[in-house]
Amino acid sequence: MCGIIGYVGPRNAETVVIDGLRRMEYRGYDSAGIAVLSDGVLSARKKAGKLINLETELEVEPLPSAQLAIGHTRWATHGAPNDVNAHPHLSSNGRIALVHNGIIENFAELRAEAESRGAVFRSETDTEVAAQLLGLEVADGTELGDAMRAICRRLEGAFTLVAIDAAEPDRIVAARRNSPLVVGVGEGEMFVASDVAAFIEFTREAVEMGQDEVVEVTRDGFRVTDFAGHEVQGKPYHVDWDLSAAEKGGYDWFMRKEIYEQPKAVQDTLLGRYNAKRELTLDEIRIADSDLKRVDKIIVVACGTAFYAGLVAKYAIEHWCRIPCEVEIASEFRYRDPIVTPNTLLVTISQSGETADTLMAVRHAREQGAKVVAICNTNGATIPRESDAVIYTHAGPEIGVASTKGFTTQIAAAYLLGLYLAQVRGTKFGDEVAAVMAELESMPAKIQQVLDNTGQIHALAQRLRDTKSVLFLGRHVGYPVALEGALKLKEIAYLHAEGFPAGELKHGPIALVEQDMPIFVVVPPRGRDQLHDKVISNIQEVRARGAHTIVLVEEGDTTVEPYADEIVYLPKASTLLQPLLATVPLQIFACQVATLLGHDVDQPRNLAKSVTVE
Ligand code: M6R
Repeated sequence: MCGIIGYVGPRNAETVVIDGLRRMEYRGYDSAGIAVLSDGVLSARKKAGKLINLETELEVEPLPSAQLAIGHTRWATHGAPNDVNAHPHLSSNGRIALVHNGIIENFAELRAEAESRGAVFRSETDTEVAAQLLGLEVADGTELGDAMRAICRRLEGAFTLVAIDAAEPDRIVAARRNSPLVVGVGEGEMFVASDVAAFIEFTREAVEMGQDEVVEVTRDGFRVTDFAGHEVQGKPYHVDWDLSAAEKGGYDWFMRKEIYEQPKAVQDTLLGRYNAKRELTLDEIRIADSDLKRVDKIIVVACGTAFYAGLVAKYAIEHWCRIPCEVEIASEFRYRDPIVTPNTLLVTISQSGETADTLMAVRHAREQGAKVVAICNTNGATIPRESDAVIYTHAGPEIGVASTKGFTTQIAAAYLLGLYLAQVRGTKFGDEVAAVMAELESMPAKIQQVLDNTGQIHALAQRLRDTKSVLFLGRHVGYPVALEGALKLKEIAYLHAEGFPAGELKHGPIALVEQDMPIFVVVPPRGRDQLHDKVISNIQEVRARGAHTIVLVEEGDTTVEPYADEIVYLPKASTLLQPLLATVPLQIFACQVATLLGHDVDQPRNLAKSVTVE
């Protein structure tokens, strides 16, 4: 995905746009660019690499002072991440500058048409076709808003476009289909951006844009239409966090800050959901109880870390609700002809609410008549907007590309949903729901306890920083925790890391074990079942083959001592809630190893915060 911004108002537009890009750089950092309109002339600067390269370029070749500008930070899809392919793209007649997030699928045929009308292309991108077509339209006398609507009707794929016209010194026109766009409403100034973080410094009043809509913005107001030109009402909202949430606040990385925010984030996810009558009240679940009672299958669909949160949720949902629950990677779901009926409840989990594969799963399920509940962190994002109901995690902005508080709050929200279904369907008594809620509410303090004791993990990271390969083992809900621990290490430390169900090891993966290979093992609490003892056996199996075992276990459990090279003690929790604690040391370990290796923890190579293309 990419980050895009437009500004019109009395401030120095270059500064506003560059600061906005800095706050959206997590969305893509292959290149960055800016265009300003000053005295009827468009000027642009764009540079491959991170935003800092563009800032250096701007010092060497300053832009004229302007009060209208657009900017872009790119995660490349079409065309290499070089200077030429960086946005903004200018029409060859010099009228239009345009930035784009998404993919224009029919760009080849449109490019041929634009070339036949005299446009001269410079880049290899799909985006340039939109700039050239707009340039041709306005040169033919069509005003910018109408020109934007006309080309949007012809574009296929996913796009947010922001464009300015050299002949219109006070106007920005933006459009969206399947990619995010939000309008920021200031006093005598206006913003359009992919994310409110881009303008949160100046205003917390925002307007949500619907699917297939165009917004025309001047410094005094805005007007929204559909692609056919009919006026529509944007949905205004107040952003409930401020600039400090979008800054590092003294931490070296956003990721580390977000790890440490987890007690508060989980608390906020749970806040106000359980009333004095000891009833769960999920007001956002706008699905009738009769429909929820009819549900005969739940499918959780998500990607990456959110998928692992879904794997955790499955254990709880099936246990509490006695409804079969499948968990599927969104990119696989749609293309295998899944069995979805009106009695299926689709649950999507997405921090950003923008992930294209997850969005497509929502649409597919709704076409089959299923109800959809979204678990999401981003107010007004496309996935919750297109779902029947939403549980917002209220975790505050997650800016580090590696998801951390996203994961723990998604688990908390999915548990709320599971308990709510159990309450509605009567599969749990009120006192049973109350007991789980009480334990859930005790988790923020326990997460804090884990965070107060990170010295051991930092020392471990120091000792293991040169390791080449790390395994993570768990069973039951400990298995997705293992997967998440491995993913964190892969994506920011670039280490080979794998998570396995501990019992599956001897069916193949144990062949990977070498002398001194670090293996993290999540041990379930000692309880009624045999799970705990089985995992202890698995630890012995890898230790016998030379592994260096790092065992995460609840405090007071000394049974692991003979088989563990290192023990990380966790506060006591029941099996289902243990992931909220066991994940935290693994996040810190990955963050610390990556820091010691000198990697950019917040912006790991090849990645972007959310994947808005299929
Ligand atoms: O925004 P989403 O939760 O839908 O994103 C899903 C994945 O792309 C995301 O969790 C990704 O795996 C993270 N980089 C993991 O840290």
